[in-house]
Amino acid sequence: MMKELPLIIIDGVDYIYPNGTAALKNISLTIHKGEMIAIMGKNGAGKTTLIRTLNGLIRPTAGDIFINYENINMKSIAELSQRVGLIFQNPSHQLFANSVEEEIKFSLKNLYQDNEELQLKTDYVLKSFNLEKYRERSPLNLSGGESKKLAIASIMCRDPEVLVFDEPTLGQDANEIESFIKLIDKEKKKEKTVIIITHNVEFAFEFIPRTILMAEGQIIADGPTLNILSSNFLTERSSLVLPQTRQLSLALSKAGFQELTNITSRHEITEYLMKILENKITSIKEE
Ligand SMILES: Nc1ncnc2c1ncn2[C@@H]1O[C@H](COP(=O)(O)OP(=O)(O)OP(=O)(O)O)[C@@H](O)[C@H]1O
Ligand SMILES: [Mg+2]
Repeated sequence: MMKELPLIIIDGVDYIYPNGTAALKNISLTIHKGEMIAIMGKNGAGKTTLIRTLNGLIRPTAGDIFINYENINMKSIAELSQRVGLIFQNPSHQLFANSVEEEIKFSLKNLYQDNEELQLKTDYVLKSFNLEKYRERSPLNLSGGESKKLAIASIMCRDPEVLVFDEPTLGQDANEIESFIKLIDKEKKKEKTVIIITHNVEFAFEFIPRTILMAEGQIIADGPTLNILSSNFLTERSSLVLPQTRQLSLALSKAGFQELTNITSRHEITEYLMKILENKITSIKEE
């Protein structure tokens, strides 16, 4: 079977901030439609800078970016943001309307000319993101987690082809992380391309198949998350800790049990551990 052609090609991209900071150095990378990718790396590695080049918020100092084989160099931010939805690290940099309802309405405005239709769709979005009760509230008066949710809703309601999240699980409680996982799962089923910047190794290890690791403006590794986050060398270099599932399977193999090299899910490793414990208990009882 022929491999599908890439959706995004980043070719030799540099970015130097006006103050002279070289934040991206010769970045090359291809992304296929429907992929789900984590971008990881230390603070200041260049992750946010890289994704800001994807919707034209900043323009590379050198190199090119192609989406569907079109060079995005000549395209306006307005045009690009229809295709690439970027959810910021800090929601207050993204939200600006006087109320939660207005925020969603503004996002949808140029997709629905008819006022009644616009209102219906706005109501639908508020409901599906569980934001109805904050409808009249100023986005400035939401909690951190709530404003993050509004920021996500205001981009996702436009249904862009590529979704880019900058640290979506930061400051979210377990429930919100769970609903975020459901949300991206749905996008995956729709064959949307999803890029997620995260420092959360547990989350990436379990849910994101491919990881790109950055350091000092460069890509230092790109491959299956299972391999990258199982590597002591790579995780240490990026100030990350090995995922707990991985640590547990290493400890088990040290203790003489079968090594579980391919397990990334907490659920599977828990089941395995339960089995070991049950066998142990049965054998103690039999003694
Ligand atoms: N507006 C700016 N002007 C000058 N330098 C900047 C600016 N924004 C970021 N930088 C610098 O560019 C480099 C990359 O920053 P970037 O925000 O892309 O890192 P990051 O990987 O997203 O880090 P974090 O995990 O802390 O969010 C850093 O050295 C940072 O200090
Ligand atoms: Mg960042």
